Amino acid sequence: MKTLIVNGTVIDPASGLNRRTNVLVEDGRVAQIGNTPSSAADRVIDAEGLLVVPGLVDIHVHFREPGFTHKETIHTGSLAAAAGGFTAVVCMPNTRPAIDTVETLAQVLETGRRDGLVKLFSSAAITYGIEGSRLTDMESLHQAGAVTFTDDGKTVMDPHLLYEAFRRAAELDVPISSHCEDHRLVDRGALNRGATSRRLGDPGIPALGEELIIARDILFAEETGARLHIQHVSTARGVQLIREAKARGVRVTAEGAPHHFTLTDEQALISGTLAKVNPPLRTARDVEAVAQGLRDGTLDAIATDHAPHTLEEKSLPLDRAPFGMVGLETAVGLTFTRLVHTGLLTAEQAIAKLTSAPAAVMGLPVGRLAAGLDADIAIIDPQKEWVVDPQTFLSRSRNTPFGGMRLTGKTVLTMVRGDIIYDDREGADNPWPADAD
Ligand code: DOR
Repeated sequence: MKTLIVNGTVIDPASGLNRRTNVLVEDGRVAQIGNTPSSAADRVIDAEGLLVVPGLVDIHVHFREPGFTHKETIHTGSLAAAAGGFTAVVCMPNTRPAIDTVETLAQVLETGRRDGLVKLFSSAAITYGIEGSRLTDMESLHQAGAVTFTDDGKTVMDPHLLYEAFRRAAELDVPISSHCEDHRLVDRGALNRGATSRRLGDPGIPALGEELIIARDILFAEETGARLHIQHVSTARGVQLIREAKARGVRVTAEGAPHHFTLTDEQALISGTLAKVNPPLRTARDVEAVAQGLRDGTLDAIATDHAPHTLEEKSLPLDRAPFGMVGLETAVGLTFTRLVHTGLLTAEQAIAKLTSAPAAVMGLPVGRLAAGLDADIAIIDPQKEWVVDPQTFLSRSRNTPFGGMRLTGKTVLTMVRGDIIYDDREGADNPWPADAD
């Protein structure tokens, strides 16, 4: 089967390719990028006015399997990924059981191969049960395929234990991904500590709690030589700490999430618990700093922190509802609307933050569009206007504060190894199976 994608603007940030040309896909791989005649193909996809880019890479998703499959499964999570243009993801380990043994990791990776439409990579926990007290067997987990170590959702507070984790990570040359939150300062807050939290009677989550741990982990990385990846940076001073660490040569990378470069804590007044996320939505100054951090390269990658929860769970009171929001199906729209159409990033820079950059952070063999490689491709309409309707999400969960928001920019087609796994073109017959366990 030969598929020819014609008339699109083909962007591959890793090689600097950015021009109108054709992509020929044959036997699951990119056979040629250039002006191949349409007669050479069995199937032609017209990408006039569209961007043809490497399949997007999200290094921070929660697919909830095993343990919380009422929120999401590896299958439904990968449907949501496909709808967002993502062809590779890194799963977080806060499942039940946590991904803290080789057996659980192998099971997740095997389920990914069997049920996942996209390429599924996994992190593993730093401590057993994400409880912060006993280090996992990082060496065996790394050998079994863990691409990063993290207790995401929680911060490892014991400095002795953490020092040892960084030391082992340096030896294995694998990044530690850090969820930054000093639990002793954060306590029971739900929202950023400020005017909105006070108005809603919430104790609040201070920016300082995040910044203390960013500073601490930068020092651990500097001391041990390990690679450190800071997850979902949400504060202006956090961005600045990373900027300074990079300038003095610390091996630190960082990600920004679409909700953190788009929404302020005031969103909780409109969306209630749907705007409850950890780290929390902060102030306008912080939102601007995250966007600027992405612009100047302080933040390497855009990652969604796709965190599905049921609407019943989200309808609990503010102090009891879980933290998190789904993000895979709105990431492209938010990135183009907030960063590209405002002139903060070029389309090529935005695509780099969603492909080659996150792949490089985790050392994944994905995120490129070049002859000879797997045909993992997203086709994006940068001008398509649409309104977010959570009812149409392919994720099992609909917990988003973006419902009803008008966005410009959408994924229209996603391909993994040459197979179309999502097709939103006029009249397209989508190939995905129904949401079934
Ligand atoms: O909002 C969040 N939700 N932040 C996290 O760190 C964890 C995540 C989850 O697992 O729901």
